[in-house]
Amino acid sequence: MRSKIVAGNWKMNKNAAETEALLTELSAKLPDTQAEVMVAPTFVNLSSAVRTLESSAIEVIAQNMHFAESGAYTGEISADMLLSIGVDTVIIGHSERRAYFGETDEILAKKVKAALAKNMRVMFCFGEELEDRKSENHFKVVESQLKNALFSLDASDWGKIILAYEPVWAIGTGETASPEQAQEMHAFIRKTIADAYDTSVANKVSILYGGSVKPGNAKEIFGKPDVDGGLIGGASLVADDFVAIIESI
Ligand code: G3P
Repeated sequence: MRSKIVAGNWKMNKNAAETEALLTELSAKLPDTQAEVMVAPTFVNLSSAVRTLESSAIEVIAQNMHFAESGAYTGEISADMLLSIGVDTVIIGHSERRAYFGETDEILAKKVKAALAKNMRVMFCFGEELEDRKSENHFKVVESQLKNALFSLDASDWGKIILAYEPVWAIGTGETASPEQAQEMHAFIRKTIADAYDTSVANKVSILYGGSVKPGNAKEIFGKPDVDGGLIGGASLVADDFVAIIESI
């Protein structure tokens, strides 16, 4: 059986004091759940977040990492640095990294490989732009993103992969994909993996939906058979909203 996961991507939000306050509130309000709950504060707050949550069931994850072991990469963070502070899951390929920082499928494939080489878990993000969907190219785009970054992996690597399908047109816009749109794409993703590997690999991978998930729509989206949870942006910055979304799974 694959894991249900609710993860909060805080993006570039919350300073040290605000991070501490939100994590303390979340930890106190965390409901009983079978789902894995994760939060991704900014790099500067990761270490303190791990300490704040050390007796909590909430896992601290990173928003990004570089593919190099170390070296002349000003401003970057390596897998070893994340592992050294107790973070062993990392988001790779978020659409904002692709759009604003030029992260290509090739770069992302290197990042995935580097993370797996350190036995980290990878939450791999992908999704189509609005024009792809309008031109009915969304399945082709998603298939290409998966193939270019992940399909060189061995079947055994997939135990460390979490997928996060995030249609770019739904991120931060309030334009959530309908539960039917999410299910259609998640089923396509799972079949694409089954065709490339086998149904055993495909059925074990958790596929999260991301893009304007809110307390009011989470239950219906999470209720779809191929939706295994959510990667939450804005709503994860408000404890009561994030708790309500966790309660929806
Ligand atoms: O990574 C999650 C994020 O892209 C979704 O953002 O604000 O639409 O929930 P939001």
